[in-house]
Amino acid sequence: MAGDSPRFEDRPPAKVNLTLEVVGRRPDGFHELRSIFLRIGLTDRLTMTPATGDRDQLTVSGLAGAPTKGNLVLSALAALRSYAGVDFPPLDVNLEKRIPVAAGLGGGSSDAAAALRLAQAAWGVRLAPDEEVDLASSLGSDVPFFYSGMAASLVGGRGDVVSWLPVMRLEDLGIILVTPSYRLSTAKVFARYDEVATATMTASLMNEELTGLFSGEPPVHDLVGIASRLRDANDLWSAAESLAPSLAVLRDDLESGTGQPWLMSGSGPTLFALYASAAEAADAGKALVASGPPSLENALINAVDLAGPDPAWRYP
Ligand code: C5P
Repeated sequence: MAGDSPRFEDRPPAKVNLTLEVVGRRPDGFHELRSIFLRIGLTDRLTMTPATGDRDQLTVSGLAGAPTKGNLVLSALAALRSYAGVDFPPLDVNLEKRIPVAAGLGGGSSDAAAALRLAQAAWGVRLAPDEEVDLASSLGSDVPFFYSGMAASLVGGRGDVVSWLPVMRLEDLGIILVTPSYRLSTAKVFARYDEVATATMTASLMNEELTGLFSGEPPVHDLVGIASRLRDANDLWSAAESLAPSLAVLRDDLESGTGQPWLMSGSGPTLFALYASAAEAADAGKALVASGPPSLENALINAVDLAGPDPAWRYP
């Protein structure tokens, strides 16, 4: 009976980057990073059950843009089989996308990390701790952060060195996220960075300041209070803006509409602002929608706290 099949479920979360410093180019072609990652309360839904057919079957629903063929969730299953050298039985996988795709929020990487966990549970296997990071980073640079399960981290290397940061006093923090309708490819943004970037010290200085602040377990107002300096602490901004010039127009509109600094997450194009609560973030979102600047057309807006699993408010 289908109802008796075991079912494995997770809610893979999104992240924002409070800082993103590109330290340099590595011999392997990737970039050495130092970035502060913060898990946020906007999640996809991932479920796995034993397959009814003879191969893994992925069904994707929800927001557009996530591939079925070549999805990192399927890559995670294949990677686990090949790592273990065991032909584990096929799984039926359902992925409901609520995290905007190719938006700088890490959704695909988070889905892959959750798939690694769920498949281990479904197959009754457990990777050794020293194997986990290798397997996670083979799937993508952001996967080790999500696989670690940490709420906030200072992330180094190409994304594979993950150090814990405390968020105990940040539980009230609210974040409003605006994701324009166009996507940005991470690979293209890094490639453009190599062409256009001029070194600035801001991301590096803010990494120092913020890791210091985190070591004292900052309350919400300390983080909100330095947002105007975090605004320019993403080294990928100039590259993202040069690939998508309307991003600068959007940021101007958001800043004049809210009176707050707006940061870019990852390689963009999602922009976000920090508030003292999710309710305040939601109010800011409602006011933006009411004022309706053309740059907001077709954008997705989510007001979240850090816990989720659902946003406090979303538009549309
Ligand atoms: O690892 P992931 O597949 O998410 O990265 C996508 C692309 O972004 C890489 O192929 C690479 O071009 C670029 N990247 C990079 N340095 C990083 C992470 C990503 O150059 N640390």
